[in-house]
Amino acid sequence: MTDISIIGLGAMGSALARAQLKAGRSITVWNRTSEKATPLVSAGATSAATVSEAISASPVTITCVKSHPQTKELLTAASKVLPEKTIIELSTGGAKDAEDLAQLIENAGGQWMVGIINAYPHMIGDDETVLSVVGTAEQWAAHGSIIKAMGGSSVHVGDEAGMLAALFAGLFTVRQGFMWGMIYGALAAKQAGIPLKTFSDLVPISMGMMKPYYDYFAATAPNATYDDPPATMRTYAAALEDVLASYEVLNARDELPRLFVEMAQKGMDAGLEDKALTAVIDVLANEN
Ligand SMILES: NC(=O)c1ccc[n+]([C@@H]2O[C@H](COP(=O)([O-])OP(=O)(O)OC[C@H]3O[C@@H](n4cnc5c(N)ncnc54)[C@H](OP(=O)(O)O)[C@@H]3O)[C@@H](O)[C@H]2O)c1
Repeated sequence: MTDISIIGLGAMGSALARAQLKAGRSITVWNRTSEKATPLVSAGATSAATVSEAISASPVTITCVKSHPQTKELLTAASKVLPEKTIIELSTGGAKDAEDLAQLIENAGGQWMVGIINAYPHMIGDDETVLSVVGTAEQWAAHGSIIKAMGGSSVHVGDEAGMLAALFAGLFTVRQGFMWGMIYGALAAKQAGIPLKTFSDLVPISMGMMKPYYDYFAATAPNATYDDPPATMRTYAAALEDVLASYEVLNARDELPRLFVEMAQKGMDAGLEDKALTAVIDVLANEN
């Protein structure tokens, strides 16, 4: 028996395997193209001939192949050895596939965790590296140290397999909000005859406000504490109205500023004018 088995020895799976060896754990490895196991075997790993043999060799198996459907295919063929085993799926994938995979493992009598790796292979094992993981609190308590050997700043997000895709969608939307903000900003600048070089050079002034924006969000949204903000919903709503008016005068496309105005107005209509702008989260969420 070994401590951990690793299935999938591509760029990422090999890095995960090396991190576990470095943490002092004994490992069994399997890869579809068996030659990729050779460097790890030289470093002390045991090579398994089949997926079933790999899973049988350890209480915990990390899977890191192309995506969840490929893991599902491999585990379906090895379902007889899943009872009492924990599978930590670290291939990237969608919400529905993650839920299907978790169901397959549960039905076969095993336990699961699913994670997203927010890093390149060379960052695996670093203290700052983050794997976002879902699974029960008990699984996290039992196997958090295995995860932290691969990413020292890893976090337990919750217990639903589909949560990771939602987390990715939410965080990508944060970044894309900034990207599309620049794109719509460029539309206003172009209509006004401001060279995009000038506009682009001035964007870092807005970027300087990102940290205060984040601090405002973090101080209000997580605990729903929306009272006495440094800038109220009324202040934001008025500024957004002015921005939209400028787009209209310029005859520039205005879907994005119009969306901002409409959303802030929903907060105002709900009587939240003295609250933080982030109080609108509850208003919008309750519309579902
Ligand atoms: N590389 C990164 O920067 C990075 C970052 C975050 C997350 N990830 C995620 O990590 C996972 C692996 O990525 P990678 O960079 O290691 O990719 P990779 O180097 O292309 O390796 C892919 C791995 O998946 C295996 N595989 C693919 N289809 C398979 C199948 N049908 N049956 C069995 N094994 C199969 C490959 O086996 P063969 O060797 O036989 O082809 C190989 O071990 C992906 O889900 C990726 O999104 C990667």
